[in-house]
Order: sequence, then C-alpha cells, then structure tokens
Amino acid sequence: MTQTCQSFCKQIQNLTDGFRPETALILGSGLGALADKIQNPKIIKYSEISGFPQSTVVGHKGQFVCGELNGKNVICMQGRIHLYEGHAPQDVCRIIKTFKLLGVKKLVVTNAAGSLNPNIKSGSIMMITDHINLSFTNPLIGSNDDSFGPRFPDMSNAYDKELQNLASNIANEENIPLEKGVYLMVSGPNFETSAEVRAFGILGADAVGMSTVPEVISASYCGIKTVGFSVITNMGTGLQTATQSHDETLAMADKATSNLAVLLNKLFERI
Ligand code: HPA
Repeated sequence: MTQTCQSFCKQIQNLTDGFRPETALILGSGLGALADKIQNPKIIKYSEISGFPQSTVVGHKGQFVCGELNGKNVICMQGRIHLYEGHAPQDVCRIIKTFKLLGVKKLVVTNAAGSLNPNIKSGSIMMITDHINLSFTNPLIGSNDDSFGPRFPDMSNAYDKELQNLASNIANEENIPLEKGVYLMVSGPNFETSAEVRAFGILGADAVGMSTVPEVISASYCGIKTVGFSVITNMGTGLQTATQSHDETLAMADKATSNLAVLLNKLFERI
C-alpha cells in the first residue's frame, strides 16, 4: 500500500521522540557534506521509514539528518529523490506534505546545475529567483486535499522574496559571490544537447538541472516559504568556450560548496 504523508510524519516523530523541525533543508548532488554542520544529529535512513521512496543516485546518501543548525531545529534530506529514478512527482509532494505536518515553515533547497548563461561560470553559486518547469509533469496532479493548499496555487512568490533579500545581504556581508537567475528543470537523466542549451537560454533560463522544481511547487502550494541555491558545476553542453580540466571544475565546485556552507549557516542563524 502507498503510505500517506500522515504515516511518514508519525514514523519520523516516533523515530526522533517527537522532534519538531522549523526548517527543512534538501541537499543536492555532491552537497551532502553540508549536513555535517548539524548538531546533535539523529539520522534516519529512508529505508527505516515504511513505504518511503528510496534514493538510488550515487552520491545521495538517502537519509534524514534531524538536529540543530545555528540554533534552529532542522530536518535535512541528505539525498533527494528524482523523477529520472522512476519516482512519481506526487512522491516528492508527499515528502513536502510530511514536512508541513511535522511543523516546517521554511525550506532551503540546493542542487547542482549546468549554466545556460555564459556570464555564470562553473564554480558559482546561483540563488534561484524563479523557475521554468520543463519536466512535462507536475507534483500536484491528482485529487486535491484542500487542507494542504488550493487546487490552483499561485506561484508568484514560489521563491520567497524576503528570504532572497536575507540571503543577498548575508552574501554581501560575508563577501560571498552570489549570482541570481532562473532555474529550468528537465526530467533527465541525459544531459542536454547543444540545441537544447541554446533553446533554454532563449526561453530565459540561466541554469538547468533535473530536480528542485517539484519540491518548490509543492512547498509553495503548502505555504512553506522557500529559498533555493544552485551550485554551477559545469557550463551547459556547447557553451564551454575555453577548455577546462575536470580537476579545475571539481576544485571550483569545492570552493562553491564551502562558500554555500557559510551562507547557509548564517542564513539559519537569521531565518
Ligand atoms: N544539466 C542537467 N543537470 C545538471 C547539469 C547539467 O548540465 N549539471 C549538473 N546537473
């Protein structure tokens, strides 16, 4: 039987002695180490939760880390689930609804993404200002439960303006370079063709990836305020002008990840 978000919520509460997170943090590919900063961590493997979707991607641990980040109770997904793994978008929505039932008011999402904008280089952190859903599906398809949100939810503040301002201020104060742009989601799992990269740029997107949008649509629907960050790990297919070594990309991704850790730590202090 498909487990409900009510069942997930109950199981997580039982496994954590009634932990009440204020904020949820979803960590993308290669960014799992950001969970190391969580104090008094209680780890719950997704496999410990009956019926919970399993993360199958290499580099995604597939566990919740519940604890404190700069004084705030946080539930962190160390590894998300993706549509290209065969998960239904509604599975993503059930996870976000579970957060809502646990008492989560704010969500911080991170991902690894390819740049579609020649001015946004690999190794950058891009704060997501908006998205384009080109996954050709939607996490809210199906009957609607009005107790979570409306049938036709507004998306004008899907990426919360106040949280964006706060993150911008922190980046300024900490001298962390922070790009801003539009994230476009494809289902994957293949990387884009050069023609797609050109087309997505013309559509108005700055970065492309295979996640995040179902989570943000679901959170906005549930009234959870969201802020999102992409770590730009590569230029989109065909955009690379100069040759770049893999080592250089990894080094830049590492630097971006440590900057993002500082940014998130400060964000949690003031969120
Ligand atoms: N395309 C899609 N997803 C990605 C990319 C990309 O270039 N880089 C990291 N995730």
